[in-house]
Amino acid sequence: MNTISQLAPHASGMTLDEKALKAAGSSHLDEGAVTPAFRQHRDDIVRLLNDALATELVCVLRYKRHHFTAHGMSSPAIAAEFMVHANEETAHADLIARRIVQLGGEPDFSPDTLLARSHAEYDTSSDLKAMVKANLVAERIAVEAYRQMIALIGDKDPTTKRMLEAILADEEEHADELKDLLEA
Ligand SMILES: [Fe+2]
Ligand SMILES: [Fe+2]
Repeated sequence: MNTISQLAPHASGMTLDEKALKAAGSSHLDEGAVTPAFRQHRDDIVRLLNDALATELVCVLRYKRHHFTAHGMSSPAIAAEFMVHANEETAHADLIARRIVQLGGEPDFSPDTLLARSHAEYDTSSDLKAMVKANLVAERIAVEAYRQMIALIGDKDPTTKRMLEAILADEEEHADELKDLLEA
């Protein structure tokens, strides 16, 4: 009679790739968590993460600009919210940069190419409502970019996917808050 362990892999069609396990344990130990089977996706994921890093850094700059230049009757509360968002975008940038390094890549902080690589725009509006709108637009673009990245990365890199899902939840909250400010 077959035991459950003999039956299970064939019955479910779920078997591990033994060759990949062996390769992970026997070569390229200097690459840390980057195993040979994963390496084929690594460069693409690092590239996606570097574009997200640029986006976060541009968002930090935009929110800071808005925080310090907001003026008018209702500006103090909104300016404070801009700073909260700036700090959360900074935390996102730090998470992304750390993950890029963990994947054996180089985080690109170059100011020369920041805006070209960013999905979202910088903004120099002086009107409070225009600032809120520019930030809402940027957040919606970030939400869409993170959704697409999560779908693209999928199960190829569960750790990066989990990180992006957490960031996405923050961006959705930002977009929601800005929508409320715009309606107020
Ligand atoms: Fe962010
Ligand atoms: Fe955001």
